[in-house]
Amino acid sequence: MSPARRCVSEVDTREAGREFARLLRSGDIVLLSGTLGAGKTTFVQGVAQGLGVRERVTSPTFTVVREHQCHNNLGIVTLHHCDVYRVQSLDEVLDLALGELVEEAGVALVEWGDLAATIFGPHVVRVNFAVDDDDVRVLDVDGAIEPERLAVLVEWSAT
Ligand SMILES: Nc1ncnc2c1ncn2[C@@H]1O[C@H](COP(=O)(O)OP(=O)(O)OP(=O)(O)O)[C@@H](O)[C@H]1O
Ligand SMILES: [Mg+2]
Repeated sequence: MSPARRCVSEVDTREAGREFARLLRSGDIVLLSGTLGAGKTTFVQGVAQGLGVRERVTSPTFTVVREHQCHNNLGIVTLHHCDVYRVQSLDEVLDLALGELVEEAGVALVEWGDLAATIFGPHVVRVNFAVDDDDVRVLDVDGAIEPERLAVLVEWSAT
């Protein structure tokens, strides 16, 4: 079973994101999946906080992608926050060239990334957001996590 973390409130989801930032490395592409309103943007707001983004992070549903300058000692300079829910074709996602963008000390977090998973290939981290009967969000992570990072991930999910 992949590590899962239960978030009982918006604050929890944001904190899960903030702590998840510690796991990230320059070059990472993270696909976020889950139903409408599952907490993906809230999670990204937490990640942004963890990466030292100073401005407000809002949903990029209509802009597809927003870039945020980061201030941290993780070697991550830019957070690319995408939402591919409304794109009309996979070409639009290809045109973003996220793979190239993250090479420049960046990470990308893609809401609804599973809709365009074929473009990103197997070298992605996936976070799935499930909403259970009590409105609790259950976040589980899988994908390209090397053994060195697994310990941090297990610690993250145990919180
Ligand atoms: N663990 C939680 N428990 C209860 N509510 C939560 C939790 N996490 C986030 N929320 C709330 O759920 C709502 C939707 O969150 P958010 O916008 O982050 O979802 P989303 O997955 O990005 O939605 P969309 O699919 O529209 O992009 C917000 O009001 C947020 O505060
Ligand atoms: Mg969203």
